[in-house]
Amino acid sequence: MTAKKPLPGELDAIETASRDEISALQLERLKWSVRHTYDNVEPYRKKCLEKGVHPDDLKTLSDISKFPFMTKFDLRDHYPFGLFAVPRTKIARLHASSGTTGKSVVVGYTRNDIDNWANIVARSIRAAGGRAGDMVHVAYGYGMFTGGLGAHYGVERLGCCAVPMSGGQTEKQVQQIMDFKPEIIMVTPSYSLVIAEEFERLGIKPDEISLKVGIFGAEPWGEGMRHEIERKLGIDAIDIYGLTEVMGPGVACECIETKDGPVIWEDHFYPEIINPETGEVVAEGEEGELVFTSLTKEAFPVIRYRTRDLTRLLPPTARSFRRIGKITGRSDDMLIIRGVNVFPTQIEEQILRDQRLAGNYQVVVTRDGHMDNLEVRCEVQRELSGKLSGADIQQISKELQHRIKTIIGVSTKITVMEFDAIPRTQVGKARRVLDERPKQD
Ligand code: DLL
Repeated sequence: MTAKKPLPGELDAIETASRDEISALQLERLKWSVRHTYDNVEPYRKKCLEKGVHPDDLKTLSDISKFPFMTKFDLRDHYPFGLFAVPRTKIARLHASSGTTGKSVVVGYTRNDIDNWANIVARSIRAAGGRAGDMVHVAYGYGMFTGGLGAHYGVERLGCCAVPMSGGQTEKQVQQIMDFKPEIIMVTPSYSLVIAEEFERLGIKPDEISLKVGIFGAEPWGEGMRHEIERKLGIDAIDIYGLTEVMGPGVACECIETKDGPVIWEDHFYPEIINPETGEVVAEGEEGELVFTSLTKEAFPVIRYRTRDLTRLLPPTARSFRRIGKITGRSDDMLIIRGVNVFPTQIEEQILRDQRLAGNYQVVVTRDGHMDNLEVRCEVQRELSGKLSGADIQQISKELQHRIKTIIGVSTKITVMEFDAIPRTQVGKARRVLDERPKQD
């Protein structure tokens, strides 16, 4: 590893520009992005027409608050490519993430989009202390998830050596880290602790591990976890944030010299914080739901995309861009289980595919050491209650477990109960999720 702090000339000029310069660039790009979306994405144009707004109404940055939001529901309604702003033949890559039910949400990138993404991930790795020549072990999953390939292109763009390990095979992860001696690891924070435990099991001490920096994201984690990871692996642990709909990893990333919350790469993404109930923009520094407008994306531009992540905007420190605080929760019921996004409605859909099962269910999330566990409790239909053999119940569990694993991508423990075993709510909404994981600090 070279110097932790950036040397003069090492950063992109915009990272240290004045706020006036940044605002001017944002306004120019915002106008382009809104116009591009309005002209090329019919469903969004319709929303604007319904709301009575037009790209010409955008004269200042805050005018963006007049425009309609985009949500995951828009992606679902126009699955798979209905919100793309360029012809299919201009799409260079697709990625996907969980939808609320059935079909996933699909996003596309042009060659320019991939190029911009590689640049901002490279910028993120540099902010985390990485430099050309470093070796980076990438243990985010490769595939439709944006983590693996998103990280990979950034690693190569910075001039580092990528080790495209992907997730799983913990013993092999450890073996390769010992043999190849990478300086950096990119992985979910929870899986990094599983890797750390494997090192411990083998009696390998932190100072015998080559790693100096870890770049962790894709799920919420707090300061307590940061300290634990840093101690167990003997590294600096850096927070990287992103989401598929907006780009993937690298929408924001912490700087190693301050470790005070991910810096939003504001030359590509314009942030707002809204009250999730009213949709109004909140006062500066207040907590609410994070909303992003892409400023440079061609294939899949997003205007006021509601991330559902709850946090606040913080003033600039190590760079001229603003930062986000820790993600404190979500304004929907999405769970992140071992890095996989899961909506209870997706599970419900799989339960209801089995006619022997009733519609009442409960999802229970617990943490065992560092690993999240997901239990799905469901009930057999009233007329079958008490009549099924142990073997029948086992078969139902096995089939449901298999469907959830293959379609949603997460392992579960299934508990099939008699009819009426799950408590009913007397008033209001059913309590579908019991999240018993300790709270992040
Ligand atoms: O998780 C992209 C990513 C990959 C980010 C690798 C960082 C590293 P999705 O699968 O679409 O994309 O999930 C996005 O994950 O809305 C947050 O709720 C959560 N999330 C991502 N990064 C963080 C983070 C990727 N650093 C959703 N802290 C987001 C807290 C995070 N939550």
